[in-house]
Amino acid sequence: PLHPLIAPSILSADFARLGEEVAAVARDGETRADWVHVDVMDNHFVPNLTLGLPVVESLQKVSDVPLDCHLMIDNPDKWAPGYAEAGAYNVTVHAEAAHDPVMLAKNLRAAGAKAGLSVKPGTPLEDHLEVLKHYDTLLVMSVEPGFGGQSFIPDVLEKVRTARRLVDTGHLTLLVEIDGGINASTITQAAEAGVDCFVAGSAVYGADDPGRAVAALRDQAAG
Ligand code: DX5
Ligand code: ZN
Repeated sequence: PLHPLIAPSILSADFARLGEEVAAVARDGETRADWVHVDVMDNHFVPNLTLGLPVVESLQKVSDVPLDCHLMIDNPDKWAPGYAEAGAYNVTVHAEAAHDPVMLAKNLRAAGAKAGLSVKPGTPLEDHLEVLKHYDTLLVMSVEPGFGGQSFIPDVLEKVRTARRLVDTGHLTLLVEIDGGINASTITQAAEAGVDCFVAGSAVYGADDPGRAVAALRDQAAG
């Protein structure tokens, strides 16, 4: 893409210093993140537990980088709008967990956020195409959700290509985002498949200089 977006995932950051970790990718210039990706896990939808609304509210106060909240939780219909009300830029829910995803998208937008829908690696896109007409972002998972530092699953690029085609032909209006295993050796294939926004956890916060890692990934994605 011409203007690839890079969204560092704070799942790989030091949770005791979250404000500083966000600040490390928030300085003006090429090292600035486009979005900061916040992984919310409830230990039910995924077998891991991270953070929730109070932490997002605190981050929202100290961060001027748009927050991209990825809710890996059951019953997002009930909980997701709170993240929009807290000021998140984009709130993504899982297609496998949402009960009424069309109503949920409307509620997220009414609360002032963009609405995102995510699919796990094994979830076909075809099942959700009608619903996706109501969404602003599609988050294609390229690992099983739950943990950072896993290996990229290249099979999901077929879904990226399908989504890209549907956007480019005007059937959908959304940004295509990818999450899981994105690093210097996998980002090029994701970019070529048509991803707009790249989440990277360990590749950014595992680096000596997270800001430099953001700039390098963006350069690579731009080709
Ligand atoms: C995993 C999370 C990801 C995770 C990605 O369930 O949704 O956002 O932080 O981490 P990496 O980039 O290390 O695969
Ligand atoms: Zn995520």
